[in-house]
Amino acid sequence: MSFPLYAPAEEHEMLRETVRALADEKIAPRAAAADENEEFPWEVYKDLVAADLQAVHIPEAYGGAGADALATVIVIEEVARACASSSLIPAVNKLGTVPLLLSASEDLKQRYLRPVAAGEAMFSYALSEPEAGSDAAAMKTRAERDGDHYVLNGTKMWITNAGVSEYYTVMAVTHPSAGARGISAFVVEKDDEGVSFGPKEKKLGIKGSPTRQVILENVRIPESRMIGEPGTGFKTALATLDHTRITIAAQALGIAQGALDHAIGYVKERKQFGKRIADFQGLQFMVADMAMKLEAARQLTYAAAAKSELAMNGTPVKDLTFFSSAAKCAASDAAMEITTDAVQLLGGYGYTRDFPVERMMRDAKITQIYEGTNQIQRMVMARQLLK
Ligand code: CAA
Repeated sequence: MSFPLYAPAEEHEMLRETVRALADEKIAPRAAAADENEEFPWEVYKDLVAADLQAVHIPEAYGGAGADALATVIVIEEVARACASSSLIPAVNKLGTVPLLLSASEDLKQRYLRPVAAGEAMFSYALSEPEAGSDAAAMKTRAERDGDHYVLNGTKMWITNAGVSEYYTVMAVTHPSAGARGISAFVVEKDDEGVSFGPKEKKLGIKGSPTRQVILENVRIPESRMIGEPGTGFKTALATLDHTRITIAAQALGIAQGALDHAIGYVKERKQFGKRIADFQGLQFMVADMAMKLEAARQLTYAAAAKSELAMNGTPVKDLTFFSSAAKCAASDAAMEITTDAVQLLGGYGYTRDFPVERMMRDAKITQIYEGTNQIQRMVMARQLLK
């Protein structure tokens, strides 16, 4: 493709229209209930599977739709515009499977990507632990070799979609004295003996997506389930985040767009002092700032997605790490500001659960925290700039 690298093609815009129609009709009407009842939206999952949108990034060679990174961003964005919890279905399926796409044997890819592409299984990513959040390399979960098997013991924490996913990419220490180079990645199945889940975390937002501990007690798995070579798991984990922080940016854009669209509709209807509140310049400037911040973050995210696509196809992209962190950071900070302003524009109504902007503001907050806090993103960007 020639210039401009990151502009959505006509097919991308058609995809957006398709996902938006599905989201307006089937996802948005269920979003408040998923939040209120703190239940995984299985009906939405079925609708996404029926439309082949639950894991669009999986290449055709593994039964997937083979969507590029920008198309994947657009899918996540449009689902998140209606329901942030539901957007974690395509986003976490990508997070769980990119380690395989980057580093796994062909056998492992064929075995585990096909069920995800077919909508028969979801795939989560297990890096964090109670004492290893930002400092992910401080993990304690052990994988000890036993003949041609590994035995895993430890507790993974904050695992998105834990319990509803069949498969987990689990990072564990194989060589304790080797630091980050002593960590390896494995595929663990929900049904492996010794796998259990902690209670659902009681969260501020994304309540329709379960966040639980994954507890591993003497989980014995064949060595063929290792992703890549021993000791490469931490690199695979970070290389994965270079691609998937962009999907969190996409989620943030979608949440912010949902809140902005709702607020614009509201200020055009609501009358005070004898006129529409949209006629007050103070509110006009707020709306203009919200849309400006959103579009700036969107452009950065699409540029990052174009780089991710190049890198996935084997072209070395030196600044992918910078762009990925920058997009995630800019989009999530923008989403927090935009959703907070949307609540403000709706006044007292915005503060109630009768209107979706309250949920969107709560949902936006997590995008500044997960897949690396925005303080970690700034650290990653600075390291890239100053090295
Ligand atoms: N790609 C590949 N390899 C990389 C890399 C990258 N982007 N960045 C670093 N590495 C390599 C380094 O080269 C180094 O390898 P060598 O020793 O062979 O040179 C190794 O990884 C260790 O790197 P560092 O020394 O830089 O590691 P560190 O411990 O100082 O810091 C960090 C790394 C950037 C702080 C990292 O720990 C980090 O990103 N922390 C945040 C954790 C995080 O994002 N967690 C997200 C959890 S997932 C989640 O939230 C999902 C969800 O719920 C939806």
